[in-house]
Amino acid sequence: MSEASAPLPDLIEQEIATRGPIPFARFMELCLFHPRHGYYTRGLGGGGGRDYLTSSGIHRAYGALVARQAGEMWRRTERPDPFLFVEFGPGEGYFAADFLQEAARTQEFAAALRYLLVETSAALAARQKARLAGHASIPVEWIAEEDLERRAGFSGCLFANEVLDAFPVHRVVGTPDGPREVHVTARDGVLEETLLPLSGAAVARFLEEEAVRPQEGQEVDLNLAAPCWISWAVRLLRRGYLLVVDYGKEAPDLYHPARRRGTLLAYHRHGANEEFLLRPGAQDLTAHLDWTALRKAAERAGGRYLGRTTQARFLLALGALDFFPRAGEGSAGGPAPALLRRIADREALKDLVLPERMGDRFSVLSVGVGDVPRDLAGLSEPWARSREEAPAAPPGRAARRAAGAAGEER
Ligand SMILES: C[S@@+](CC[C@H](N)C(=O)[O-])C[C@H]1O[C@@H](n2cnc3c(N)ncnc32)[C@H](O)[C@@H]1O
Repeated sequence: MSEASAPLPDLIEQEIATRGPIPFARFMELCLFHPRHGYYTRGLGGGGGRDYLTSSGIHRAYGALVARQAGEMWRRTERPDPFLFVEFGPGEGYFAADFLQEAARTQEFAAALRYLLVETSAALAARQKARLAGHASIPVEWIAEEDLERRAGFSGCLFANEVLDAFPVHRVVGTPDGPREVHVTARDGVLEETLLPLSGAAVARFLEEEAVRPQEGQEVDLNLAAPCWISWAVRLLRRGYLLVVDYGKEAPDLYHPARRRGTLLAYHRHGANEEFLLRPGAQDLTAHLDWTALRKAAERAGGRYLGRTTQARFLLALGALDFFPRAGEGSAGGPAPALLRRIADREALKDLVLPERMGDRFSVLSVGVGDVPRDLAGLSEPWARSREEAPAAPPGRAARRAAGAAGEER
């Protein structure tokens, strides 16, 4: 069977037959990013398969509030023109659409703003282009990493929402003979795991540098690519900020001996599972980030760690409450669709900020590059900001959906 037509499990078996057992990280890379059959390459998940739901797809407040934050970054760094806002892994393009709509409300900021999308999947890029077709007032451009690199030395903000958690992880297990790495092999046409020596010097170096010592029987997931990515990203900027939003933990917690099985999970049809070898290319694979390693890598590259806050605090500090329907706003005796709209709107916003939903599970890591103010609004005390400060927001997409108004369902 040719490379073009063979399904992913066959291609993986072919690679194993040629090379021998492959590190799990390589297996995960093939599953998610194989140029033809990868889960993300094919645009599955968020819109195509709905295995995951991100903040970007929940309520327009998310993109709008980050746009407010970007506007403040621009104002407080002497209003550079152009100001590049670069979104990595834009998924369905919901975030970009909401961001651009909000940014367009401030004429001067909109005039300086250039919105760049870094998307490796042609299928997703096509959906993003369709979604953003109407946002002509702010220049929007899809750009490959290599081309972005050629433009290194710009002012702006780099943004990644739930992107780094998809980077392939090396799974390392403590044994009496020292750390061993999970590899994937095939027997009688069935993929299975096997423990072998570490796959390379980089894995050994990471364990050493980050002082990760898995105990006997303990498994840890090492995302080596994420610190490399953040160093690379920091070096793109002459002056500006980097915002990484994701789930993760500090190293002492992430690799604590009490955590026996790491954090890797597979997602299929909105359900989590640990059948990592099943459904190659047809299910999402994701692991928590190591915030400690990311901070250190950003600092080594010359960035300044500005802080990490929860998504809830970040969004509330930027004015998330402005988007909540105000108490008593025409609810009693109002038409039923309007009431339903407000309830759906409120629930979507609660998903973003309630601690037990996404509010505390997600963090925002902020890094500054060059001489930039560090006291960003999003990192400030949420309750210091009164909701009277900002203009009333239009109803969210979830609200419009509940009301049966026109608009595509997320
Ligand atoms: C869970 S989705 C999140 C999508 C979107 N950011 C959102 O908030 O809905 C992960 C995305 O990261 C993208 N991705 C993974 N590695 C990437 C990389 N190195 N550069 C750019 N995008 C990447 C994937 O293609 C996928 O679209």
